[in-house]
Amino acid sequence: ALIVRHRMRCSGRWARAMAILREFEEKCATPIGKLRQVADAMTVEMHAGLASEGGSKLKMLISYVDNLPTGNERGLFYALDLGGTNFRVLRVQLGGKDGRVVNQEFAEVSIPPHLMTGGSEELFDYIAAELAKFVKTEGEDFHLSPGRQRELGFTFSFPVRQLSITSGTLIKWTKGFSIEDVVGQDVVLELTKALEKQGLDMRVAALVNDTIGTLAGGRYLNNDVIAAVILGTGTNAAYVECANAIPKWHGLLPKSGEMVINMEWGNFRSSHLPITEYDHALDVESLNPGEQIFEKIISGMYLGDIVRRVLLSMAEEAAFFGDTVPPQLKVPFILRTPDMSAMHHDTSPDLKVVGNKLKDILGIPNTSLKTRKAVVELCNIVATRGARLSAAGILGILKKLGRDVVKEGEKQRTVLAMDGGLYEHYTEFRVCLESTLKELLGEEVSANVSVEHSNDGSGIGAALLAASHSQYLEVEDS
Ligand code: GLC
Repeated sequence: ALIVRHRMRCSGRWARAMAILREFEEKCATPIGKLRQVADAMTVEMHAGLASEGGSKLKMLISYVDNLPTGNERGLFYALDLGGTNFRVLRVQLGGKDGRVVNQEFAEVSIPPHLMTGGSEELFDYIAAELAKFVKTEGEDFHLSPGRQRELGFTFSFPVRQLSITSGTLIKWTKGFSIEDVVGQDVVLELTKALEKQGLDMRVAALVNDTIGTLAGGRYLNNDVIAAVILGTGTNAAYVECANAIPKWHGLLPKSGEMVINMEWGNFRSSHLPITEYDHALDVESLNPGEQIFEKIISGMYLGDIVRRVLLSMAEEAAFFGDTVPPQLKVPFILRTPDMSAMHHDTSPDLKVVGNKLKDILGIPNTSLKTRKAVVELCNIVATRGARLSAAGILGILKKLGRDVVKEGEKQRTVLAMDGGLYEHYTEFRVCLESTLKELLGEEVSANVSVEHSNDGSGIGAALLAASHSQYLEVEDS
């Protein structure tokens, strides 16, 4: 009788846990009709953000990039990429039309977490010191023309109100950063001060967002690239807009007639988005409550934590992991998206990877196969929602550009440059995004639209933009 009662109790718990999972699944649903509504809302907000400053949650920031790389760029340039959990420094020798990228070298340094929420000076001093170290290792494969100052493309992947291609003030921090004294400051000035302290003679020739860098790097390799999307720690997109479709731009019309726009789509929000109680709680407890809602349901910084929150509720409400709630499950961000991805991709028959992750990260030993399967299912629900919503966002951009339809007699190719760890390493996410985009566009349009991985395009892109905005350009041209 005891055993029977035990079984009944367990099956009651299981049923309750599954009810929690099913309810979550329902709330995360992204049927094609909903995705179209999200895409339409995105297009509407794009128009509003372009019409006036503050006209929309989408900031639609003017990048001051009105010319993308052509292939003629020449010389030695540096890039510094700050915006995720790591930052990268890079140098590249550009050889012009025939040579292209003659040589390149990079280094990647992780940012000590305390610097992400400390003071401005500490952060900029740290990155300047790392850059200075890197410059010292410049070998004979790289050539700076005599008498020239080294020039840098600075990729700063946060919302910045640009004042020119070489200056801009931080609007707010996103992702895991929060250093109050930088908000409202010119980040180029901050970096330049720190470079001087290091005794490093280097000029910032271009300040760009990672989406802009990726767009530039993508265009350098493929002329049909018209937009870039980052799916990494955060998420965002940039695209090439007609300068006369930007009512809020009061400057001179650029010769090219074009202007690259940094959408900051991470801050998109719409009543059509499938938001659950878990997303709400994550948002409320985050460093930036009420902001970056699209980002919080899509990007790598958050997906793992959404999974953790649902598991915690299954543990608390339905004893999913036994009589006690595993304490580790209560630790925010303990389950990272790469771990979630590893569980999601576990193909071993007994889901060994899932078992090990649950044990090693959450301190839950001896899980049953049934339990592990439910965990994989949960990862799938969270990743699928994010991937499908990203595809909807892309459709929004294509609609704005009139590239979501096939135009009579035109064989126009559309290429999207993609980058970021989530896109690069989370295969299920990437595959789902790409198939959803096809589903949304239909076969005929899809045939002209492609998605390309632009591997560290943002670093090279920033260096290319530094080259095309070099102070020595006039000399070179004459
Ligand atoms: C965040 C930043 C944005 C960046 C994106 C991807 O959304 O606000 O500027 O492009 O992350 O790194």
